[in-house]
Amino acid sequence: MSVQTVRAASEPAPATDPANEGGLAREVARRRTFAIISHPDAGKTTVTEKLLLFGNAIGLAGTVKARKSNRHATSDWMAMERERGISVTTSVMQFDYRGRVVNLLDTPGHEDFSEDTYRTLTAVDSALMVIDGAKGVESRTIKLLEVCRLRDTPIMTFINKLDREIREPIQLLDEIEDVLQIECAPMTWPIGSGRFFRGVYHLGLDRIICYRPGVGDHVHFFDTIDGLASDEARAWLGDDHAGFVDEVELIQGASHPFDEQAFLDGTRSPVFFGTALGNFGVRECVDHLVEHAPSPGKREASTRDVQPDEAPFSGFVFKVQANMDPRHRDRIAFLRVCSGRYRQGMRMRNARLARPVKVTDAVTFLAGDRKRADEAYAGDIIGLPNHGGICIADTFTEGEVLGFRGIPNFAPELFRRVRPRDPLKSKQLARGLRQLSEEGASQVFFPLLSNDIVIGAVGPLQFDLVAFRLDDEYRADCVFETARVFTVRWVSGDPGAISELERRSGERLALDGGGCLAYLAPTRANLALAEERFGELRFAATREHAEHD
Ligand code: G4P
Repeated sequence: MSVQTVRAASEPAPATDPANEGGLAREVARRRTFAIISHPDAGKTTVTEKLLLFGNAIGLAGTVKARKSNRHATSDWMAMERERGISVTTSVMQFDYRGRVVNLLDTPGHEDFSEDTYRTLTAVDSALMVIDGAKGVESRTIKLLEVCRLRDTPIMTFINKLDREIREPIQLLDEIEDVLQIECAPMTWPIGSGRFFRGVYHLGLDRIICYRPGVGDHVHFFDTIDGLASDEARAWLGDDHAGFVDEVELIQGASHPFDEQAFLDGTRSPVFFGTALGNFGVRECVDHLVEHAPSPGKREASTRDVQPDEAPFSGFVFKVQANMDPRHRDRIAFLRVCSGRYRQGMRMRNARLARPVKVTDAVTFLAGDRKRADEAYAGDIIGLPNHGGICIADTFTEGEVLGFRGIPNFAPELFRRVRPRDPLKSKQLARGLRQLSEEGASQVFFPLLSNDIVIGAVGPLQFDLVAFRLDDEYRADCVFETARVFTVRWVSGDPGAISELERRSGERLALDGGGCLAYLAPTRANLALAEERFGELRFAATREHAEHD
C-alpha cells in the first residue's frame, strides 16, 4: 500500500461545514494518524501518556497505567496480560492538539504479538520511534523499522531517559544511521544527562529549554533562554558554555539538517531528546509531529487509487479484537477510514461478502474509552462491533467494488497440532480456531487429508493466548502437540499443476482459515524439493489478506 502525502496548510481551521467538499479536504488535512514503536521498556507507554496530557485527553499522568491495570482487573482474557505483565492488545486513542486531530495507535509491546503490530503499521501515516538513550537501538526496533520501510513510513525519533546516564548522543545517532539505515536530523540537542542533565537546545529555534525535575505528571511550561550566544545562556551554562557551543557547532557540521521531503520519503528522521517520565522534550516532539507529519494520503486499492478527500466513504479493517470489554461481549473490527465521511447509521458494503451492512453503532476511541462515532474522516479509526463475520483486510465502501491492498499475512514461524481435550468438543474447537484466525490471533490450517488441525504463530505466547481464549470463550479446552512443520507457503498457479501436487503430496496440503491452499513443509529441504518439482507453481511466504476474495 503506498501513501502519497497531502500537505496540511499551516494551522488549518476546523471545518465549519464538513459535509461540503472543501470541508472534507480540511478535515483530512487536520488528521495525523501515527503509531509509537519501540523496544519494550524504552518508554512507549510513558510517552503515550504525555501525549494524552498534551491533548487534554487525561488529567494527570498515571491514568494510562491505572487504566491499564483497571482493564486487566475487569477483563477475563486480559488477565493473561496481567499475569505475564505484557501488553497484548492494540488500542486507539484520538485527541485534539493545536487544531489537529491526532489518532494514536498503540501497538503490542511483546514481540510474540508482532503480527498485530505489523498490521497496525499498515493503518498509520507516520511513526514515532522511542529509543532508550542508555540502550540505543534494540532488536525489536530494528524489526519494526523494517516493517515501516515496506511502506516508506515517515519516522520521528525520541531519545528517552535523559534523566539517566545515557550513551554519547552522537554515538546514538551513528547507531541509528548504521543499524536502521535512516538519516538523523537532530532537532534538539541534550545538555548533559543523568544527574548532570540540564536541558535541551533547540537547534532550529536557537533556544535552550531548561529542565526541571519533578513536574512530569502534568503539562508544565519549562523556562527557556533565547539564543545560545546570549548573556543569559552564558550565565546559565557557566563553565560549560564554551564546550557546549563547540559541541553544537560540531553537530551542526556533522549531521543532516531537517528536510521535509526526506522525512516524508521515510529516509530522514527528525530526532528529539528528553525524558518522558519528566515530560520534558516531549512537547517539542509532538509539536513537530502535528506540524510536519503527513496527513492521510492516497491509498492503493485493487481497481484504482483512492484519494482521502473524495466524497464516497471507504476504509479497511486492520485488526479484529474480541471481548475488549466484558460488559460488551462482542468483537470490534478496527477500520481505518481511507476516504469520505462516515456518518452514523450509514449503509456500507463489505466488499468481501458483497453485501450491504447498516452501521448504527460504530465507536471511536477516546483515550481508550469507547464512545459512539457520529462522524469520521480519512485517517480516523472507527470500531465496528460485530459477532463474527468481519475479517482482517475487509474493505468497506458505499457500494463501489474495491479492495485495499497491502495488509499481509506473514508465514508463521512456529507450529503446533491442536486437538480438543474432550473429543466431543471438536466442532467448538474448529469454530473457535477459525474465528481466532479471522482476528489474526494465530493462523489455522486444516489439512486436506486428516483431521489434525495445525496452528501457526510468530511467537510462542500466541499459543498460550489461543489456548486461554478457546477455553474461556468457546469452552474448548485444547491440547497442543508438536507438529512436524518447518514453514508454510501459500500455493497458487495452474490448476492442473495444483492437482498434481495434491496427488503427489496431498498429506502436506491444507486450507488456511481464509480457505487458501497452503503447503506445510516439514523441512527446508522438502520445501526446496517441492519448489523445484513444481516450478510452475508459486510458493509464497506472505499472503495478501484479500486474496481469498
Ligand atoms: P514501554 O511502554 O515502552 O514498555 O515502557 P514504559 O513507558 O512502560 O516505561 C518502562 C519503564 O521505564 C517504566 O519504569 C517507566 O517509568 C520508565 N521510564 C519511562 N520513561 C522514562 C524516563 O524518561 N526516565 C526514566 N528514568 N524512566 C523512564 P518501570 O519501573 O518499569 O515502571 P513504573 O513502575 O515506573 O510504572
